[in-house]
Amino acid sequence: MAKNPANEKSNKGLGTWVRERLAVSGLDYEVPKHANTLLFSLGGITLISFIILIVTGVILAQFYTASPDTANQSIRVLMTEVKIGALIRGIHFWAAQIAMVTVILHLLRVFIYGSYKRPREINWLLGVGLFFGMMGLYYTGTILKWDQEAFEALAHTQAAAKLVGVFGFMFADSFAKGVPLLTRMFSLHTSVLPLLVIGLLAGHLLLVKLLQISPLPWNSGHNGSKEMFSRHLKKLVGYGFVLTGAVMILAVFLPPKLGAVPVAGIEATKPPWLFLSIFSIENWAGLPGLLGSAALLALALIAVPFVDRAVSNNLKQRKAIVTLGAVAVLLAFGLTINAYVAKPEQHIGMGEETEQAGGQVSTADDQTNSGQADNQAETGEDEQATLIAAQLDNALAVISEIQSALDGQNLAAAAEKAAELDEVFDAIADKIAAKDSDAAADIEEHVHELGEILEKPQPDAAEASNLLGHSRESIEAAVKLFQ
Ligand code: HEM
Repeated sequence: MAKNPANEKSNKGLGTWVRERLAVSGLDYEVPKHANTLLFSLGGITLISFIILIVTGVILAQFYTASPDTANQSIRVLMTEVKIGALIRGIHFWAAQIAMVTVILHLLRVFIYGSYKRPREINWLLGVGLFFGMMGLYYTGTILKWDQEAFEALAHTQAAAKLVGVFGFMFADSFAKGVPLLTRMFSLHTSVLPLLVIGLLAGHLLLVKLLQISPLPWNSGHNGSKEMFSRHLKKLVGYGFVLTGAVMILAVFLPPKLGAVPVAGIEATKPPWLFLSIFSIENWAGLPGLLGSAALLALALIAVPFVDRAVSNNLKQRKAIVTLGAVAVLLAFGLTINAYVAKPEQHIGMGEETEQAGGQVSTADDQTNSGQADNQAETGEDEQATLIAAQLDNALAVISEIQSALDGQNLAAAAEKAAELDEVFDAIADKIAAKDSDAAADIEEHVHELGEILEKPQPDAAEASNLLGHSRESIEAAVKLFQ
C-alpha cells in the first residue's frame, strides 16, 4: 500500500515539528574544535549575563522612581517590601559584575590570539563599541542608586563634561531644563545604551558567523578538526545554568549595599572597582587625567588592528604588541590596587563648588528636616557645619537601626549596618578632628570596636549594645560642636 506523506510527517513527533519550523538544523554547521573551549566561549558567557541583566532590569524598572527625591528610597522599598525584590536586585548587580569581568577577559582573549586580524578588523571595532557601551551601562547603573557614591560619581562626570566644553552638552543642566540629570541617566541606562549595545551585538554576532572563528595563534592554518556549532550552543546553555545559579547564590549571600541618601558638599567615596584605575590617575592628574586616560584607552583599542600589521596572528611574530598589552594590563591592575588601598581624595572641591550634579540633589539641610529635597549650593563655614551635623544625624539613625537589629537578634544585619556607620564616620572624621581631635578619637574608638565585635563569628550582643550606647553618646557630643 502506498504511504501517505502527510501521515508520515505527523508521526515524527512534536520535537521534530518544532525543529523543522524553527530551522534548528541551520545551527548544525561546522566550527573549528577550539571554538568550543571556555576561552572561546567568553563572548557567549557575556551575552548570557547581558540577557540576565535585561530580564532583571525590566523587573527592577517597575519599582524604581528616577527622581532625586525618591530614587534611593524606592530601592530601599524594593529591597524590604517587594517579594524577592532584594533577590532580583542582587542578581542584577552580580550579573553586571560578571558581564564586566567576562567582557574584559573576552577582549583580552581576542587581543592575545590576534583574532582582530584581517578580515576581522571591523568586528574588533564593533567590539570596542560594545566594551564602551557596557562600561556606560555599568556607570549609569551605579548612579541610579542615588547614594553618596552615585552622587559624587555624577558630580565628577559633570565637572569633567565642563572641561570638554560643547562635547559635554548632555551633562549640562541647560541641556534639558527642569529635568534632573538622574532622570536622564535612567533613560540612558534603560533605553539608549541597551539599544546601542543590542544593535552592535547584532552586527558583531553576524560577523562572527560570516567570517567564522579565527584560527589558533600557534596553528594559524585551521588544523581541520571540526565540531558542530549546535554542540557549542548546548555547552553555552550549560554555562548559562551555572551562571544563573552562581548569581543567585551571590545575590543571597553577598547582597549589594545601598548607602544613605547623598549629602552635597562632601567627597568621601571611591568609585566601584571598574573605575578605580582611572580614579588613581585622577588622584595624580585631576580631571584632565581622568579624561585623558579614558580617551587614550579608546584610541589605543581602536588602533590595535591597524598598528599590528603582521599578517599572521602567530604569537611569535607579535611579541611587541602583546608585551605592550601585558604592560597596559599590569598598569591597570596596579592602579586599581593603588586606589583600593588609598583614602578617598578631593578631586573637584565639592565642598567649595557652588553648582551640584543634576541640579537637584538632596542636601544635608533638607536631609535633617525631611530626608530629601532640591539643592543649589553650599558654601561657607555655616553650610559646612550643617552638612557635618546632618551626617552625624545620619550616623545616629544608623545607630538606631543597629539597635533594632540587635534587639531582633539579627546580628548579620547589625554587622552590615556597623560597616555603614564606619563609612559615614570616615567621611567626616577629619572635619570633626579639625574642631576637636579628642571627640573624633572617641567616636573612632567606639565605632571601630563595635565593628570588630560584630564581625566576630559569634558576636557578644550585650557587649555590642554597650558599645553602641558609647558610640551614641560620643556622636551626640560631636553634634554640639556643629550647632
Ligand atoms: C557585550 C559584549 C560582547 C559580546 C556579547 C560578544 C560576543 C562575542 C561572541 C559570542 C563571539 C564568538 C567567539 C567568542 O566568544 O570568543 C565573539 C567574537 C569576537 N569578539 Fe566579541 N563580544 C563582546 C565584546 C567584544 C569586545 C569588547 C571585543 C574587542 C574589543 C570583541 C571582539 C571580538 C572579535 C574580534 C571576535 C571574533 C573572534 C574570533 O573570530 O576568534 N568583542 N564575540
